[in-house]
Amino acid sequence: FVRALRSKGRKQLSPPGPWSFPIIGNLLQLGEHPYLTLMEMRKKYGDVFLLKLGMVPVLVVNGMEMVKQVLLKDGEHFAGRPNMHTFSFLAEGKSLSFSVNYGESWKLHKKIASKALRTLSNAEAKSSTCSCLLEEHVTEEVSELVTVFVELSSKNGGFDPRNAITCAVANVVCALCFGKRYDHSDEEFLKIVKTNDDLLKASSAANPADFIPCLRYLPLQIINAPREFYRALNGFIALHVQDHLATYDKDHIRDITDALINVCHNKYAAAKTDTLNDSEIISTVNDLFGAGFETVSTCLYWSFLYLIHYPEIQAKIQEEIDGNIGLKPPRFEDRKILPYTEAFISEVFRHASFLPFTIPHCTTADTTLNGYFIPRKTCTFINMYQVNHDETIWDNPSLFRPDRFLNENRELNKSLVEKVLIFGMGIRKCLGEDVARNEIFIFITAVLQQLKLKKCPRAKLDLTPTYGLAMRPKPYQLEAERRSSGSSSAS
Ligand code: HEM
Repeated sequence: FVRALRSKGRKQLSPPGPWSFPIIGNLLQLGEHPYLTLMEMRKKYGDVFLLKLGMVPVLVVNGMEMVKQVLLKDGEHFAGRPNMHTFSFLAEGKSLSFSVNYGESWKLHKKIASKALRTLSNAEAKSSTCSCLLEEHVTEEVSELVTVFVELSSKNGGFDPRNAITCAVANVVCALCFGKRYDHSDEEFLKIVKTNDDLLKASSAANPADFIPCLRYLPLQIINAPREFYRALNGFIALHVQDHLATYDKDHIRDITDALINVCHNKYAAAKTDTLNDSEIISTVNDLFGAGFETVSTCLYWSFLYLIHYPEIQAKIQEEIDGNIGLKPPRFEDRKILPYTEAFISEVFRHASFLPFTIPHCTTADTTLNGYFIPRKTCTFINMYQVNHDETIWDNPSLFRPDRFLNENRELNKSLVEKVLIFGMGIRKCLGEDVARNEIFIFITAVLQQLKLKKCPRAKLDLTPTYGLAMRPKPYQLEAERRSSGSSSAS
């Protein structure tokens, strides 16, 4: 790497970083767990360093202060997305999450999507006992999940909960996006769940064409597979959106698709350029569909693993549920009265850090960071895993200890909760944070209210993640048995 760059006649330092090979750069050095390798590199090079992934220079940012500098104080300069081959498949560059076109029309796109999510959050539930439509969908799904867990356990003893969780979360996403839930054995539904899984696997296999650009012209399966999966998913979503456009009724908002149509037909439609056309609506639904699926189900898969690994923590959550809400179905507003459960969820986010990096960012202009010159269009990785395991913030970061989030009065320490970095921050922050937090809370409380989860006798549990776009635990099995009310025990 060149240590000094010339810009506008002045000599400016480029960030430090390891020596790299031609063409492959530092790819081979990253190993099986890149977030850990990058944490090690930080010890040598500091919070900001540069490496080469294939032929692409990548700026790596660590440390809470430096991350805040990049995502908040200097957010506008780091708010782009890099021109990666994998991203280019998604919505032909129109994707809210992945498009390289950062600017005024992207900002409007995000504003519209965020308004649509809020409209939906306020949409009334069909049943009077739920506060909103989302709460109703999640409640319905979790009750189905409990039944499936009990059935699987009585049939097989131990079972891997992954498929059941994926189907339940996929159904919440389908209900959110299209107002429709599917039977877990419905063929169309299973096909979509599988296509989404294939797309994720294909996209997270570190597509070599992302880092060695000339490879994108080769007709290889690994390079082009994501495009096929994406097309299939887009076709499914497009059909539903077209159907919604034909049956839309402004006085009866059924789901996000209706909410998006509503936002575009109302305020923003005043000026024609200030709205989304039908294909942009389809790509936005696609963004929300994709983003709300794997993230939440991965989080639940981790949560159940921690709960069987630490039965005493499971028992404490059940004690809190029994004491504060009893047998009443959990509701979003109960988050306020179950601080230990909330602390557990924050500790899962922090400890598992199943999204170790944000989606890659990219500089939108020449800029400086920590005294280093960073040219426009520099791909930037934010190492959220490092922040979540930083010893200067977290006492014994490798320990799984929900209590760290509670103060002496057993109340949630909100300022510490905010230090967990899992949804990103600033301009590119996750759009679905509230939806996700509420959904995960209901899934965990409703399952633990009714079931005791146990590890299978003699099974050895492994908390080491498998690296990917979203890191999953290695497959594991659990046993589920119905609780008699109010009986929490760690045994
Ligand atoms: C982006 C985390 C659930 C919608 C992101 C990003 C992260 C993230 C880290 C990238 C931030 C960045 O690039 O700086 C999570 C986690 C979730 C979750 C941990 C669940 C536990 C959801 C849900 C939705 C959603 C349920 C939608 C209903 C989005 C969208 C973006 C995004 C649209 C793109 C934002 C942009 O590019 O500006 N999320 N997410 N996410 N998320 Fe989430």
